[in-house]
Amino acid sequence: MRIKTIEWKNNKIKLIDQTKLPKKLEYIYINDIKSLWKAIKFLQVRGAPALGAAAGLGIYLAVKDSKAKNFNEFSKDLDKQARYISSSRPTARNLFWAIERVCSIALRNKNKPISIIKELLFKEAQKIIEEDATACRSIGFHGGKLIKNNDTILTICNAGILATVDYGTALGVIYKAKEEGKKVKVFVCETRPLLQGARLTTWELMKKGIDVTLICDNTAAALMKEGKVDKVITGADRIASNGDTANKIGTFGLAILAQNHNIPFYVAAPISTFDLSIRNGKFIPIEERNAEEVTQIFFKQPIAPRNVKVYNPAFDVTPNNLITAIITDKGIIKPPYKKNIRRLIKVDSR
Ligand code: MRU
Repeated sequence: MRIKTIEWKNNKIKLIDQTKLPKKLEYIYINDIKSLWKAIKFLQVRGAPALGAAAGLGIYLAVKDSKAKNFNEFSKDLDKQARYISSSRPTARNLFWAIERVCSIALRNKNKPISIIKELLFKEAQKIIEEDATACRSIGFHGGKLIKNNDTILTICNAGILATVDYGTALGVIYKAKEEGKKVKVFVCETRPLLQGARLTTWELMKKGIDVTLICDNTAAALMKEGKVDKVITGADRIASNGDTANKIGTFGLAILAQNHNIPFYVAAPISTFDLSIRNGKFIPIEERNAEEVTQIFFKQPIAPRNVKVYNPAFDVTPNNLITAIITDKGIIKPPYKKNIRRLIKVDSR
């Protein structure tokens, strides 16, 4: 199965509409920035690296028809669109990283004609997509070494093909292990409230022929106690400079459970998910989403009284002391994280 979550096709952004899965594999074509904003907000495209790819293309989409006559005017357009796309979702670092990266190309080429700058923005957005495909395979290469034959892995949310351009981070590690001929079993937490695990992760693992079992989120503790989990591997939305990691709500709980049962807990993410501007996880903005996501089953069937108070943070932060290692495209980072993250990322940017 070769699936591309996001690409540029016929002058539009082509996306898998992830809200339709697992019922249908349906693509949507986006040719205006408001529709992209909504696609991000309402999770038609989701997962940190895929959000980076969408935001990069989004910047180009937003300014490709700009009528600006000089760089000053163009730069104002660009800033406005960058702010607009940034307002869609706050937590995934990749979204902001991609916006900053594409916008910086404009500034660096400010003396060139606007038409050329537009072309360069497009090239940069395409580069982000190509690099994500390579980075995820590299995460798979490094992480695959940690997986033993017959391992059983627990994961949460979706950190696979659908959350990236075409391979996955946490699931990329599993795909690589399988490609190397290792047998693996995967338990997937359903991931309340929006069921990314149940709807998306099981779907893509089954398509890849991987032995997958769906569990309710509250089954994880019992499963670990029964000795049925060898490793936990999750993705990440933002990693602070000390290794504290934001990921889907429920990840922190899994990390505590893993520590309690002496099970290694791994985070898999590309370098573009790291935010070295923040000291620790306290500074990671956590998105709070609508009550209806909790009071209704996937916006259809009410399961709680209409006006009940709801608290619905989409992410939580796992402190670095609960993380055994962070698997990146540049290699595996082990504690002490502050020192080792800086070392790896500095070496990389030289
Ligand atoms: O709200 P979502 O579905 O965008 O949340 C996604 C996650 O939490 C993923 O685990 C994370 O982005 C890593 S994706 C490789």
